[in-house]
Amino acid sequence: LRLAVLASGRGSNFEAICQAVDEGRLHGQVVLLISDNENAQALERARKRGIKALYINPQSFASRIEYEKALVRACQEVEADIVALAGYMRLLGKTFLNEYHLKTVNIHPALLPAFPGLHAQKQALDYGVRFSGCTVHFVDEGVDTGPIILQAVVPVYFDDTVETLEARILKEEHRIYPKALQLIAEGRVVVEGRRVRIIGDEH
Ligand code: GRF
Repeated sequence: LRLAVLASGRGSNFEAICQAVDEGRLHGQVVLLISDNENAQALERARKRGIKALYINPQSFASRIEYEKALVRACQEVEADIVALAGYMRLLGKTFLNEYHLKTVNIHPALLPAFPGLHAQKQALDYGVRFSGCTVHFVDEGVDTGPIILQAVVPVYFDDTVETLEARILKEEHRIYPKALQLIAEGRVVVEGRRVRIIGDEH
């Protein structure tokens, strides 16, 4: 599995994916990191690991279509099979998704369909839910709406702050994102409409 990762910031999920590759838990290679943010820590992490790191500035293109075409070209150049969004703070449209439909995945820090979009952990706290978690899903044109591959649950405590809840969820993100990618690498992830069958894990 040849993976391209898109990240806008810290890149801890990118790091977790790379670690899983290093440790043989994910059979593949991270061949490219793209960021839309020049100062993303993710770019630094990729360079340190000797992984091709590209800053692609959306502002430098005449339109979103042209920007997305540049993303597609970059991913095609390294022959990426799967594109993993990891804290990538933009929506992708048809131009990108027509090329990487059901080949683009994302991690979201809530139990979708609850609390899509920004500040999911704060949304969960404000709502008062007892459990939250994270979701790995295929990307479609909506905001965190594509078919769900894996989810993990964490408890929410009365004394939680955004920071404590974020940390509890992040730990699970780092566990299930590489796991979901490995299931894809094994060819065990089959999308049937909105529902995703994990072969060999039907129960
Ligand atoms: C994670 O919480 C992820 O779920 C969300 O953005 C955050 C990115 O963190 N989409 P990092 O850049 O991977 O550290």
